[in-house]
Amino acid sequence: MTEQSFVLHDAGEGDEPLSNHSANPTFGEILEARLSRRGALLGGLATALGAMFVRPGESLASAATSIGPAEKMLGFAAIPVSDKDTLVVPPGYTARAICAWGEPIRSTGPAFAPTNTGADQAQQIGMHHDGMHFFPIEGRSPYEGSSTDGLLVMNHEYVEPRYLHAAKYAGQKIATDAVVIRDGKRDDDEVLKEINAHGVTIVRIAKQADGSWKIVDDPRNRRITGLTVMEIGGPVRGTEFVRTKFSPDGTRVRGTLNNCAHGVTPWNTYLTCEENWAGYFRNGTIVDQKPDLPREHARYGVRTERSRYAWELAASGRDEFVRFDATARGENPTQDYRNEPNAFGWVVEINPWDPNSVPVKRTHLGRFAHEGVIFAPVKEGKPVVCYSGDDARFEYIYKFVSAKPYHAATANGSLLDEGTLYAAKFNADGTGEWLALKPGVNGLTPENGFGSLAEILVNTRAAADRAGATKMDRPEWGAVDPRDGRVYFTLTNNSRRTEQQVDAANPRARNLFGHIIRWREENDDHTSTRFTWDLFVIAGPAEESRTASGARLTQDNIFACPDGLWFDSAGRLWIQTDIGESEQNRGPHAVFGNNQMLAADPITGEIKRFLTGPIGQEITGVVTTPDRRTMFINVQHPGANTSADEYAEGKIRSRWPDGQGVPRSATVVITKDDGGFIGT
Ligand code: FEO
Ligand code: CA
Ligand code: CA
Repeated sequence: MTEQSFVLHDAGEGDEPLSNHSANPTFGEILEARLSRRGALLGGLATALGAMFVRPGESLASAATSIGPAEKMLGFAAIPVSDKDTLVVPPGYTARAICAWGEPIRSTGPAFAPTNTGADQAQQIGMHHDGMHFFPIEGRSPYEGSSTDGLLVMNHEYVEPRYLHAAKYAGQKIATDAVVIRDGKRDDDEVLKEINAHGVTIVRIAKQADGSWKIVDDPRNRRITGLTVMEIGGPVRGTEFVRTKFSPDGTRVRGTLNNCAHGVTPWNTYLTCEENWAGYFRNGTIVDQKPDLPREHARYGVRTERSRYAWELAASGRDEFVRFDATARGENPTQDYRNEPNAFGWVVEINPWDPNSVPVKRTHLGRFAHEGVIFAPVKEGKPVVCYSGDDARFEYIYKFVSAKPYHAATANGSLLDEGTLYAAKFNADGTGEWLALKPGVNGLTPENGFGSLAEILVNTRAAADRAGATKMDRPEWGAVDPRDGRVYFTLTNNSRRTEQQVDAANPRARNLFGHIIRWREENDDHTSTRFTWDLFVIAGPAEESRTASGARLTQDNIFACPDGLWFDSAGRLWIQTDIGESEQNRGPHAVFGNNQMLAADPITGEIKRFLTGPIGQEITGVVTTPDRRTMFINVQHPGANTSADEYAEGKIRSRWPDGQGVPRSATVVITKDDGGFIGT
């Protein structure tokens, strides 16, 4: 998603008033204070470096990988920025696109064609690839096992109808998000195709004799879409908030939508995160009085007019389409879909190993614009801890701590159904605290409108407002350093933060370029309620940037709008950018070129540009095989910056990856020509 989309859809900051901000120190003073604290944060680093390496989601006991003496952290030659319609990696590396939107997930499935139907799309890879994980085929652990054969599981964030329906829309002036509405109705098969292009893809992929990778047939290959029936789990299950005509007992819902980033559980399942779901609904109950919509709609940006893709206008009036209209029409909630939006905004657990498994919405992780979710290393007998950001302007970073301890032999998703959700407060002195969002504390009482845990969770944003969490500059991906446990989060940008709203953790007014924050939990215990923090990098043009070492960014590494973030098991931090398509190669963003991926050494603060993508896209999704010799990344929405006029004239700005036809999101496989580790 882009910032521009937030403006268009008003799904950004919701309707809550801004919190009070007292007088703040200047940007320069904050920079010095925050960056000079890095010495304190790096304390104990020598010990950490000498210790065993722990992979995300792995127990300390099982971790055994370390960087060999010859392995360079950033051994590649930095590449320049690019405005070309091609994907570039450093000399000595090779990149190949696979799994493009529309490729059939089984060898017997329908081939990609502009004329594919909605039913075809349900048997093909979805559109607009995002978060992704490679599960080694043995299935015992998310980061150990085969490096040549595994299940690739990926999210599909949103769709561009003009490319999805190119055979029908060609020649018309169609903007990136626009749909064709005739006589107040939408074509049913277009609606079906759009819903089926959302969700998640699970495909088995294997390395071939010639070094390429391809999809191989497997019973576990499947699509999960905006129509797949799933369970509502956790404290919200069965409550009044999620009772609908489809599920009068509030236990089930059809579909997951706007799946942005993801998570991988320590028990080897996939979590998909529902980000900008609010725009898929409309609630016309009180037209033009949006603040008077129920807060569980208004605080998230559910619209009063038509929804983003107007699925509710499907000509057939089929129930699974018109449910996106949350207007109250019946006598009670089980006669209409007034509660349907409440069944979205969650983290959804998918077991890729069992093709018959039903996805479960894990409601104790909170309801907001979930970007992704990242687990701290697990320890036998200790609670499970994971972190998640709410990607909208002035929203929060959250953490969940399970009530029950982790035991490798028995761990499963039910660990996520019981525990405590916290929101982060970043203090100006470099300390921070986790504010519990549970009944009876931090003002979350019935008198204040929070009558139960379920009511807190359905209204997570309002609960964090009440608790006094710190309003951040659009939290995106998080990552936990496998070597020392520090947690990093990207804060992609926030053009609306004013001088008066600047704070220590969000130090830049009109933050066009974003920054990366990191923290260390007290006593290196991820269940702690206190932490210390600093800024790892302030992105932007050289003169406005600063790295952790105090240096400015250079031509080798200037970047803006950090989004994707991932640590490989050697401790390299991979940073992916998402400058909105309407800002790319223009104005203050011109110097950054197309969206890119960089690698960072979190210890030295060094950063180098590793990859630049084609025109109009964002780079997202990143994972390697366990041996770190193959990397998978995603290219999302190439050509999205094509204007409506250009589309009508057939002047599509990107033809990636095919070089012809419509642009297609795809996965990119990156290898080093000498067979070495990626990044060296
Ligand atoms: Fe879907 Fe916040 O990027
Ligand atoms: Ca983004
Ligand atoms: Ca993102």
